[in-house]
Amino acid sequence: MAANPLIDKVLEYLSHTETVDTLQLATEWEEDHQRIVGAVKSIQSSGDIIEVEQRSEVRTELTLEGREFVSKGSHEAILFAAVPSGGEGILLPDLMKITGPNGKIGMSKAMQAGWIKSVKEGNSNRVVRLKESIEDKVQETLRNVAAGTTELDKATMAEYKKRKLLVQNTVVFMVLRKARGFTTVIEKPETDLTPEMIASGDWKTKNFKAYNFDALGTPIPAGHLHPLMKVRSEFRSVLFEMGFSEMPTNRFVESSFWNFDALFVPQKHPARDAQDTFFVSQPSTCNSIPEDYMNRVKAAHEGGSYGSSGYGSNWKKEEALKNVMRTHTTAVSARMLYEIGQKKEFVPTKLFSIDRVFRNETLDATHLAEFHQVEGVVADKGINLGHLIGIMKEFFSRLGIKKLRFKPAYNPYTEPSMEVFAYHEGLKKWVEVGNSGMFRPEMLLPMGLPEDVRVIAWGLSLERPTMIRYGYDNIRDLVGPKVDLGMVYKSPICRLDKQ
Ligand code: PHE
Repeated sequence: MAANPLIDKVLEYLSHTETVDTLQLATEWEEDHQRIVGAVKSIQSSGDIIEVEQRSEVRTELTLEGREFVSKGSHEAILFAAVPSGGEGILLPDLMKITGPNGKIGMSKAMQAGWIKSVKEGNSNRVVRLKESIEDKVQETLRNVAAGTTELDKATMAEYKKRKLLVQNTVVFMVLRKARGFTTVIEKPETDLTPEMIASGDWKTKNFKAYNFDALGTPIPAGHLHPLMKVRSEFRSVLFEMGFSEMPTNRFVESSFWNFDALFVPQKHPARDAQDTFFVSQPSTCNSIPEDYMNRVKAAHEGGSYGSSGYGSNWKKEEALKNVMRTHTTAVSARMLYEIGQKKEFVPTKLFSIDRVFRNETLDATHLAEFHQVEGVVADKGINLGHLIGIMKEFFSRLGIKKLRFKPAYNPYTEPSMEVFAYHEGLKKWVEVGNSGMFRPEMLLPMGLPEDVRVIAWGLSLERPTMIRYGYDNIRDLVGPKVDLGMVYKSPICRLDKQ
C-alpha cells in the first residue's frame, strides 16, 4: 500500500471508470480538495500511470449567511413571520426584540418588497402586514444555487454578492484518466543502483526513479565570495594562464614618491591635489626612499638627463615624502620595476596585481572613493606597441571581449598611451574598459633598467566588469553599507566566457 491512503483510493476509483475530476472526488468523499490534488501529484511522479489535465472553473458558492438563509429563511421572511397577521400588527421596538440583530435589514427589505408598512404611533412606529402570505424567493433561489439547478442573471448575482450571500471563486482542479502504464499498485521506484542489483541482473527489470533536474540543490553551509572577489579570482586565473605572476599589493598607504614621482608625474600635476588624492595626516611623511634612486628621479624631473628636457622646475623632496592613500596600483608596479632594475642581470618579466586604490571622488552611482584595479606589466627587450595591442587582445578575449578599439590618450608615465574600448554586445555600444601604454624612459632609466628594455602596461577597474557581469547599475548595491548580504549568498559563480 502506498504511504498516502488517498493514492490507493484515487487509483481504485479510476480503475472502475473512464474519467473523474478531483472536485467530484472531494465532494463524493467529503475530503479536502487539496489533499486529493496532493495524492494525484504523487501518482504523477511515480511514472506514466494517469493522465492529468488541469482545468479551472468559476464556482458560485453560498457564504455562511447564504446557507443560513437556505435553512431558516431570509431576514425579510423571518421578520414578516414575526409580524402578527390582521391589522393590529406590532410595535417596532417589540418586533426588533424578536428578530434580533438582523431585524433592521429584514425590515427594510420587507418594506421594499411591499410586504409590510410602518405607521407612526405616538413616539414609536407600528408595523403591520400588507399581505397575508409571502413567498421567500431569496431562500428558494439560494437553495437552487446550492443544488446547482439554477444560473443567476447578472443583476441577481450582483445583488446577492453585495448582500454577502454568495461568493464566486475560481477553482483549479484536475481531470484524471488512465494512462498507458495504469496500475492500482504503485511500486516504490528504486532510487539507487546497488552492486547487488548489478551482480544479480535485477536492475534490468527494476523501475528506477527518474532524476528531477528541476530540484534545487542543498544549500552549501559555507562562506560565499562577494561578486567582486569572484570576478577577481577569474581575472587571476586568466592572468596566471597567460604566465603572469602576482605582485605584493599589501600597502594601501604609499609615499607620493612611489605613487607619483617614480612614475614621472610632475609635482605640479593636478592629481597630486588634495581634491583628487587622500593625503595621510599621521604619519604624514615616509622616511625611507632609496637615496641614489631618488636623486636620479629628481634629475629626470628637472631635465637634462636621460635624453629628456624634464619638467624644467625644481623637484622637492618634501613633496615626494608626503604619504597618500595609493591612487593606483601603478605605484606597486613602480616598486617592482625598480627591484628588477637593481638586479645584476635583466630577466624578462610579466606581472599583475588586483587590489584596492583610493581617490577623493565625488560619490555617485558609478564612483566610490575606493575601488579595485587590475593591472598588468610586461618588461622585455624589443617589445613595442604591437605587442601591447596583441596582449590586450589576448587578455580581453579571454574575458569574453572580442572587439577592441584603441584611442590615443595621455598619461604622464606612458608614451604612447592608449585608452582601450570594447564593444558591449548587450548595450550595443563601445565602452571604455581600460588604459594602457609603454612606460617612458624618464621612468625606467632612473630605476636602473637597461636602455633596450621596454615595458608595456595596462590597468582597468574590477568594479566595472563586475557590475556588467552581475547586472548592477548602482555601485552601492555592490559595495558599502547598503549591500544586501543575501546578494552575496545568491550571486552565481562568475565564469568569464573563455575561448
Ligand atoms: N594607472 C592608470 C590608471 O590609474 C592605469 C594604467 C596603468 C595606465 C598602466 C597605463 C599603464 O588609470
